[in-house]
Amino acid sequence: MKTFTKSLSLSAALAMALAAPAFSAEPAPAFTVLGLMRPPAAADMQGLAAQLPAVDVDLVSVAGVTRAVGDIDPLQSLADQVGYAYRFVTASEDAQGTATGHVLLTRLPVQAEDGPGPAGRGYLRLADGRHGVAVYADAGGDAAALASRVERSRLGAPAVLLRAGSRALAGFEATGMAGVDSAGFVTRRDTPLPLRDAAGKPLQARLLSLEYAPSGAQDRPWMDATLAADERARLLLAQMTQDEKFQMLRSYFGLGKDGGPLPEGAVGSAGFVPGVPRLGIPSQQSADAGVGVTNPGGIRPGDHATAMPSGPSTASTWNPQVAWEGGATMGREAWQQRFNILLGGSVNLQRDPRNGRNFEYAGEDPLLAGSIVGASIGGIQSQHVISTMKHYALNDMETRRNFHDVRISEQAMHESDLLAFEIAIEQGRPGSTMCAYNRINGVYACEHAYLMDQVLKQEWKFPGFVMSDWGGVHSGSKAALAGLDQQSAGEVFDATTFFDEPLRMAVGAGVVPQARLDDMVSRILRTMFLHGNFDRPPVHEAIDDDAGFAVAQRTVEEGSVLLRNEGGLLPLADTVRRIVVVGGHADKGVIGGGGSSMVGVTARGTNAVPGVMPVTWPGPVIFHPSSPLEALRRERPDADIQYVDGRDAKTAARAAAAADVAIVFATQWSAESVDLPDMQLPGRQDALITAVAAANPKTVVVLQTNGPVRTPWLQQVPALLQAWYPGIRGGEGIAALLAGRVNPSGRLPVTWVADESQLPRPHVPGLGFQPKEAAVDTFDFDIEGANVGYKWMAAKGLTPTFAFGHGLSYTRFAYDNLQVSVEGQRLVASVDIRNSGDRPGADVAQLYLKLPEGSTTPIRLVGFNKVALQPGEQRRIRIEAEPKTLASFDTTARQWKIAAGRYQLQLGRSASEPVQTVDVQLAETVVR
Ligand code: BGC
Repeated sequence: MKTFTKSLSLSAALAMALAAPAFSAEPAPAFTVLGLMRPPAAADMQGLAAQLPAVDVDLVSVAGVTRAVGDIDPLQSLADQVGYAYRFVTASEDAQGTATGHVLLTRLPVQAEDGPGPAGRGYLRLADGRHGVAVYADAGGDAAALASRVERSRLGAPAVLLRAGSRALAGFEATGMAGVDSAGFVTRRDTPLPLRDAAGKPLQARLLSLEYAPSGAQDRPWMDATLAADERARLLLAQMTQDEKFQMLRSYFGLGKDGGPLPEGAVGSAGFVPGVPRLGIPSQQSADAGVGVTNPGGIRPGDHATAMPSGPSTASTWNPQVAWEGGATMGREAWQQRFNILLGGSVNLQRDPRNGRNFEYAGEDPLLAGSIVGASIGGIQSQHVISTMKHYALNDMETRRNFHDVRISEQAMHESDLLAFEIAIEQGRPGSTMCAYNRINGVYACEHAYLMDQVLKQEWKFPGFVMSDWGGVHSGSKAALAGLDQQSAGEVFDATTFFDEPLRMAVGAGVVPQARLDDMVSRILRTMFLHGNFDRPPVHEAIDDDAGFAVAQRTVEEGSVLLRNEGGLLPLADTVRRIVVVGGHADKGVIGGGGSSMVGVTARGTNAVPGVMPVTWPGPVIFHPSSPLEALRRERPDADIQYVDGRDAKTAARAAAAADVAIVFATQWSAESVDLPDMQLPGRQDALITAVAAANPKTVVVLQTNGPVRTPWLQQVPALLQAWYPGIRGGEGIAALLAGRVNPSGRLPVTWVADESQLPRPHVPGLGFQPKEAAVDTFDFDIEGANVGYKWMAAKGLTPTFAFGHGLSYTRFAYDNLQVSVEGQRLVASVDIRNSGDRPGADVAQLYLKLPEGSTTPIRLVGFNKVALQPGEQRRIRIEAEPKTLASFDTTARQWKIAAGRYQLQLGRSASEPVQTVDVQLAETVVR
């Protein structure tokens, strides 16, 4: 908590400046802002770093900062040095990439913020001891959008608005400091501050102090929304009985036990924790999950949701803003269906294309997966819904998932799967984390003290709560002491409800300290306060179908990957008049993945192709009603487009021979709880493709699969589009890409290995339904360690069918002038990118670090930037490296360390296609 008492004990000059007569002996707590009227010079930073700790302000605000495209902002280095968070809010950017904007530095914990929203906006929720503060930076633009953002996120907190223009916002008042307005504080006081620049001259600095209002709420003080979430949780916890506390620690299966009635008060979905009306604690209603809000078995009649494209599709966009919008759509629809927790935010790494659940995840690279899922989490939570990041950790295969043990060294886990989680937490700040089913080095994930307590809570400072996966708990006190905070649906899925009677006894006997019990409850409560569960409880209302459709379609358009396009077969030329569409139920819809995440009820109804096996768990196999055939007919009304179901290859081949172009749709269903037996397209689809391609050399294949499959027909097929599981607008999105109304810009988030022989574990016994061999109990992930996907391929010198990052466009992009600046842990690359073709399009500039010879990992993705360009347009773009991807994890020092040495930076079209390279010397640096 910030008080002026503290400030008065500072260095004489500062103290004098702050000691105004208005401050009496009992100074009121205040939020303080240091405003720098003009950006300090690089040379001033050293001095500022020395002066800042003494000033001890909550927020530093610097307006009018200019940052050239390849430069590291000295204010960023200052922030690194003093341990403040740094945010640059871009107001404008020129074609050379020079950005002008507002810089915010804060020493307070950031509890929530907007993800990659529209440029020119920033929102941070800070916790200042007892109080919470909402800080907004606005560079101008849409006033109504700003007002609605403030309205949605402020939730009663005192707020500060840093604005570029003269525009005022309703409810805010001028503070006296130029460009700073405030709301919800009682007094505002603005004084000059005698900070000095490097030459000893005064920097134009002012100190604004905003005094918090005294609490108004008396009978239920925790309902005072001006207080910080942790403080509200503390006040509430003090009023709870032991029974009420225990009630928070277990959820019930929200669909009822053994087909029986729903628990009283449950809306109907995965989990339900009753509220405590005596204290105004709302119930916790949780729904699955990562591709939209599920309605298992239509348990909530009348409810439906947007079926979003699968995780790899979103990851293939390489566009965090698309992921954020997808998250916001799912969060909004969850809230409108009365849920305050969405069990979405799935960031397990893809180590093997046969993992049945890859379609829920975001690919093989920790930076890409962490950034995409982090953005999605931010979107979910922007809607007053808690996101549950899962499945922590290393639940990378489904076979015997409740028992199998994953073997992996500490360093390798930190540099692979854990890094994805760590980045997702930093970027998305999920309120909750779900521990996984599997064991890691012999210990169940939900009783893994190293993972949950040491790493997640202590080292990463995760302030939220850990809930178990459904059926993932094997003990009471052991799990609680290891960091599990809430047992999910134990009465149905676990041997017993460990977090009821057994845990009560353990607490009674002192085996689990009361303090740990209180910590479990506080973590849940503070998360519920932070995300508006108390102040903005869900209201059952109709979802906006069109808004959901638009986001789903944008995702499939940006997330489908054009893998091959020989002779420019795509987009379909105007001269193509006779088209035959073959197979994949393309006349009816697009396939989705099975299991708990399946969104079976949409605005367009349920299953377009009922009866495909299996029809029971983890089925049914669902085809979303979104026909690619119909959509293509709408795109190309001038063409004659016929459909052949593909059951008979000869009939299909005959139809193909008579057409200008044949388009074969191939599908691969995959589901939770079971892995795929191999990488082969199921059924006779390979033979079908081969027959069609033999009959018509102009054959296009569109895949809807969990991930990479074998493509034995590739050389006969000139064009190949990977559409993953494309969701409720899949048909429309695929048709727009084939017809060329939309230019493909997806890039692979996984390596497309040629076949199983290229995998770290070519043969895994017991995969798939009804396997012939007994299933394994141990997965040795130390074979590849942190070298997942393209890193493994590079280490082994293997050539994939398509590399990680690969994806084609209907236009061409040229790169030039790669430059790199390095300073400690910060590395910024800049490069010219030009659309040298004749169509608008977007490219993903990918920055890879080639490590020195002899390093365990040969290459890593360190940054990326997706950019849309008009034909002929050229822009200079900036790519910032994520510092941890430059480093290795030192398990003894518990630090990320960059090793000194000569590295090569590669600007690439994929992990194996560098187009520009630069050598850099990195100094030994500990990443902060
Ligand atoms: C899945 C979770 C899911 C939960 C609740 C489990 O089987 O692994 O991802 O959230 O069920 O449905």
